[in-house]
Amino acid sequence: MNTIKFNLDGKIVEIETEPFKRLIDLLRYDLNVMGIKEGCGEGECGACVILLDDKLVNSCLIAAGIIDGAKIETIDSIKETPLGKSIIEAFADFGAVQCGFCTPGMVVASYYILKNSAKLTEDEIRYKLSGNICRCTGYDSIVRAVLNVANTMGK
Ligand code: FES
Ligand code: FES
Repeated sequence: MNTIKFNLDGKIVEIETEPFKRLIDLLRYDLNVMGIKEGCGEGECGACVILLDDKLVNSCLIAAGIIDGAKIETIDSIKETPLGKSIIEAFADFGAVQCGFCTPGMVVASYYILKNSAKLTEDEIRYKLSGNICRCTGYDSIVRAVLNVANTMGK
């Protein structure tokens, strides 16, 4: 077991863990961040995405031991930011949520894309969200929601 210390959604957390435990399991089951979802468990669906030191990563592919000293942002803090709230409102307005399973990952990925792109077209949003799978909506409503937020931001 190793002791790791990191910033989780703005709070410093110190916890003992097996270094090769999957980060998704540490966050969900040891630290109760249940907004992170597990779909495929092998880096294909995007349900588990988080920001690790400002980069979008699949938490099912990360070993807990490497996040010592890192900054982690999950849906829990992102949904409280002005941009996160705008994305969630747009998802509701455009009917971009059905079962909701993909939604936390979609919101985190959209937040990352909107923060880190100077300009966004519909095609670029579709491409940049292609790592996130939705089995319900057919994607059009999600892309329109994100495009609406981008337009509101002048992107
Ligand atoms: S659960 Fe991590 S990418 Fe699917
Ligand atoms: S809304 Fe059901 S998987 Fe996307």
